[in-house]
Amino acid sequence: MVKCIIMGEINWLQFMDNQTILAYDDTAEQVAALHKMLVPARIYWLIDRFFIKGEPCADVGCGIGRDSAWLSEHGYRVIGIDASEGMLQQASQLYPNNFFVQDSLPLLEKQSDSSYMNVLCSAVIMHLVDDQIAIAITNLMRITALGGVIIISFRGTSSKDLRENGKLYSVIDSGRLIALFVQSGAELLHHEVDFQEGRGVEWTNIVFRKLPALVV
Ligand SMILES: C[S@@+](CC[C@H](N)C(=O)[O-])C[C@H]1O[C@@H](n2cnc3c(N)ncnc32)[C@H](O)[C@@H]1O
Repeated sequence: MVKCIIMGEINWLQFMDNQTILAYDDTAEQVAALHKMLVPARIYWLIDRFFIKGEPCADVGCGIGRDSAWLSEHGYRVIGIDASEGMLQQASQLYPNNFFVQDSLPLLEKQSDSSYMNVLCSAVIMHLVDDQIAIAITNLMRITALGGVIIISFRGTSSKDLRENGKLYSVIDSGRLIALFVQSGAELLHHEVDFQEGRGVEWTNIVFRKLPALVV
């Protein structure tokens, strides 16, 4: 919980969906068994096409660290970041040569400004409640260096209460998300939507570049 003082009033904002993080903590072993088997080929294709080779990289919401390890094998210096202690334990066991740290969206308060040229945030932001998404975007942009690239992917849900096994799957409007990134100083490089028939869910992958400072 973070205390915010707004115009003399005290508001308490729940900055993380704790139920989602607890669900990941409680099922970390099972999630690891499943995620180990998955190869996010499309995400790796986007990384190959858009990331700035060899430059520092943050894998925000790294889960079991599979993509951090892939990035590392492909020449990137990478830090895997996740809010769930259980998932981070799995990551450290599976990929002991990689570096993982506990931190959370929307604030990413342990990450310094402009510290990464490449930011991957794959299958994470739908776990934020709607009013945290703009704050998350501000902070994803904050940690990205000028000229750096952000790859963001998220999926929808067919569940009526937007929960699957306790995890929140917020509905994210791509148009709003793109507008928020552009207002924060990014340009849109790529946007695609992929319907995964087997699971009946839609994946959206979007790539942004943080614009270099204006020269006047
Ligand atoms: C579906 S997994 C995705 C893992 C990995 N990025 C991938 O694509 O396989 C979602 C991950 O996001 C993490 N997560 C959820 N909410 C988060 C938050 N607010 N901040 C940081 N990580 C979060 C979860 O703990 C979990 O490890």
